[in-house]
Amino acid sequence: MLDIPNSAETSHADGKILHSVRDGVGVITFNNPDKRNAMSLEMWEGLGLALVELRDNPEVRVVILVGAGDKAFVSGADISQFEKTRHNAAASEEYSKRSEAQRALLASYPKPTIACIRGFCLGGGMQVAMLADIRIASDTCQFGIPAAKLGIAYGYEGLKHLVSLVGLSWARLLMYTGMRIDSGEAVRIGLVDRVVPDTELWDATLEIARIISGNAPLAIQAAKITIAQVLKDPDRRDMDAIRDIGTACMDSEDFREGRQAFMEKRKPQFKGR
Ligand code: COA
Repeated sequence: MLDIPNSAETSHADGKILHSVRDGVGVITFNNPDKRNAMSLEMWEGLGLALVELRDNPEVRVVILVGAGDKAFVSGADISQFEKTRHNAAASEEYSKRSEAQRALLASYPKPTIACIRGFCLGGGMQVAMLADIRIASDTCQFGIPAAKLGIAYGYEGLKHLVSLVGLSWARLLMYTGMRIDSGEAVRIGLVDRVVPDTELWDATLEIARIISGNAPLAIQAAKITIAQVLKDPDRRDMDAIRDIGTACMDSEDFREGRQAFMEKRKPQFKGR
């Protein structure tokens, strides 16, 4: 089992979404291990609430997303809800609106996010993982998007991220076959950033989160904003946003602290302003 901090957890969706904060690191847990953490609509909405709470908590500098149990990150949308909530185009549009709103929050999240992935990461679980800024996986993972096996379309946002991570050809192979790939293949094609032994997953993820939380928040925001703009079509890029965050960095107390700490050979204490 992962040694995930579970003290003072806040719960949503009947305990199926949990979140906690420790040492500047927010942790959101998908907590329905009996169903391999399949996401019900209530869990999507719970994810949105957890994201907002951690976004608005000034103590939190980075957020980790993780699945409970040892079998799955998230095994996709909860298929048992489909007959009622996603059985045709009209129902599916309503369903998508409710879950897309939460994914949009993650897509434009102002703080850095890390997906800590073990076991199955499928369908909507891949979407969550791909929306995170960084993906750390254990060597036990199975990744896949079985939309073609279910007869559903995966949608623009999900495929945009898939193509940007793995390229057109792998995106087609994964989508047309619905095949699953293991952690080794996933890191080779760029779907995840690092693969570590299962027993080291949580420590490896936490180490990266702690490094990020010790760095200058405005500089990280500048990187996040600029990289997001790089992904957009050139005529839709917000160059003003890039310039504004660059100015905020150069005028910040943290930049002064960063250069002073370097000269004084000490660790900088950043405040995010
Ligand atoms: N939606 C609803 N229930 C799910 C689910 C999902 N996406 N994924 C798993 N479950 C449920 C199973 O129905 C099963 O329920 P039961 O105990 O009541 O029978 C339970 O979780 C355990 O799953 P099981 O299939 O027995 O475990 P496994 O370890 O052998 O296989 C998966 C795990 C994830 C490979 C397999 O459950 C699966 O293929 N799930 C569907 C994945 C999918 O198509 N996702 C895309 C959805 S859009």
